[in-house]
Amino acid sequence: MCGIVGYIGKDVEKTLVKKLKKLEYRGYDSAGIAVKNSDGFSVFKAKGEIKNLETKIKITPGAKLGIGHTRWATHGKPDEVNAHPHVSSDGKWVLVHNGIIENYAELKAELIKSGASFYSQTDSETVANLLQFYDCSDNLQTLIDAVSAVKGSYALAVMKKDDDKIYFAKNRSPLFIAVNGNETVIASDVVCFSGFANEYYVIEDGEAGFVSGGKLTVKNGFGTVTKTPVKLDCTESDEENGYEHFMLKEIFETKSVIKNVLEYYSIPENYKKLSQIDTVLYDKIVFVGCGTAYHACLFGAKFLSDKLGVNCFTFVASEFRYSDFKIDDRTLIFLVSQSGETADTLAALELAKKNGAKSVAVVNVEYSTLAKNADVAVPIKAGTEIAVASTKAYCAQITVLYAVAEILGAAHGKKAVSLKDIKEFIKIFDFGQIQLYRQIADVLRYQRRIFMIGRGSDYYSANEASLKIKETCYINSDTYYAGELKHGFLALIDETTYVVVFATEKRVLSKVLCNAEEARSRGAKLILFTCFDGIERDFTEKCEFVVKIKETGNGLQAVANIVPWQLIAYYTSVNKGINPDKPRNLAKSVTVE
Ligand code: AGP
Repeated sequence: MCGIVGYIGKDVEKTLVKKLKKLEYRGYDSAGIAVKNSDGFSVFKAKGEIKNLETKIKITPGAKLGIGHTRWATHGKPDEVNAHPHVSSDGKWVLVHNGIIENYAELKAELIKSGASFYSQTDSETVANLLQFYDCSDNLQTLIDAVSAVKGSYALAVMKKDDDKIYFAKNRSPLFIAVNGNETVIASDVVCFSGFANEYYVIEDGEAGFVSGGKLTVKNGFGTVTKTPVKLDCTESDEENGYEHFMLKEIFETKSVIKNVLEYYSIPENYKKLSQIDTVLYDKIVFVGCGTAYHACLFGAKFLSDKLGVNCFTFVASEFRYSDFKIDDRTLIFLVSQSGETADTLAALELAKKNGAKSVAVVNVEYSTLAKNADVAVPIKAGTEIAVASTKAYCAQITVLYAVAEILGAAHGKKAVSLKDIKEFIKIFDFGQIQLYRQIADVLRYQRRIFMIGRGSDYYSANEASLKIKETCYINSDTYYAGELKHGFLALIDETTYVVVFATEKRVLSKVLCNAEEARSRGAKLILFTCFDGIERDFTEKCEFVVKIKETGNGLQAVANIVPWQLIAYYTSVNKGINPDKPRNLAKSVTVE
């Protein structure tokens, strides 16, 4: 969360804004820049998206360096005062920060005693005043002393009055630097380097340094560090390409993404490291992720336990690290994440590694911390996903986890579904009846809450559909196991209630329809979602809507099941005047715990 950028070069304001736009997926509560001028700094801030900031910026002629920030609020409401950059009370230091200063309250109290004053509610302003407190003749040393007082996570870009360098420090928040001639960019994501440089430097935890013109100096606790550049392998995030929103564009990319995944995993060289994992060595297999990635984990665990007959467990990452679940060298852990930077998932990886588990990252961003730090990285090949609501990445995660189960199964002599058979799925895959989805969206837009029910893996799909409806439409969508209705849920039903019935699991079809009937007889309006022909007309005729999708006959049913709900969520969101790409209070990359 939060994106930081620093730049040394020309057209400083324009460049900072351009880079910030690439980081806006990390948060869009407010944005700001500070540009070095002859007296100190010119600071501009605005609430909301970067386009609001753009209108406020006044150009400092001849400016050569500046820093910028796009915020996802953690401490202090999302307003202009709390927007970064933050300036020390003596006006000599200015900084942008991504992360959380966990001990900021104690530090702030101490700093106030020492004479510092504060204007914001942020934790980050504490670091600006720590720099003032530790100020010595050596500015890098000042920064090192300041961060050594801090507990928590940070990626910092710092400027000081009368100094033409940008200083930086990092702990548990991503930070990268690219140099091109005399120009330098510091950023939270390498996406800022696209079109600027072909290689970049990864700043590691505990490192601090400065850039001056095109020169990079890095130190850690042992002295000066010689950094080796990494080849830049990321495509510039696309434009909407004629679609009104990234979410819609990304949903429609699903078909080609699945095709890419299946092609990639048809080549043994691409999954060599994975197929070498001897699952017999592990007595438990765990899947960990957050949000949508967690829902993909539910399917991953199902695919693998169906295939190998091993015990598979799933955890939401933020719960995993505080659970008493025993992890040791007989544990195989899959960490699923689109961004590969989700703090809770990274913390789960750290814990698993500390306890000797073997780790596999199932990840979209191939240069991410998760991909880098896990024992094996399994790419999902979804391409850049910009919209906050994960759509094509979820479908790619499901497809990859299905392929992983087949690959590991085959390595253990289990009969595998051939990828060729899975590829047949591509032939039958379509985006369904858009007109019908729009009609459903026209009804849902007026609901304050809806319910989704299902059994077995339909329950997993219902959970993901509910999440899409919640985050993009601001409608409370609750999911229940269909068999649980009579144990409490039915008390919520009246004639205004819409209940979505997921019925794509053959073995429990009749059961789920009976459960749905229990809801309907208490007044509920049903939206039936099924892949089966032959459901009694008596039942279907009384439904408000019947959405019929294709039956895939394999694990990719989960993909077929979600795409209509991604589209329904999208159309409902747009109907309600919400920007589905940037729902309120959320961010694409959740780098705080
Ligand atoms: C998805 O629509 C959500 N915005 C969110 O739940 C997301 O999946 C979650 O934050 C995990 O992100 P990751 O995949 O980048 O780890």
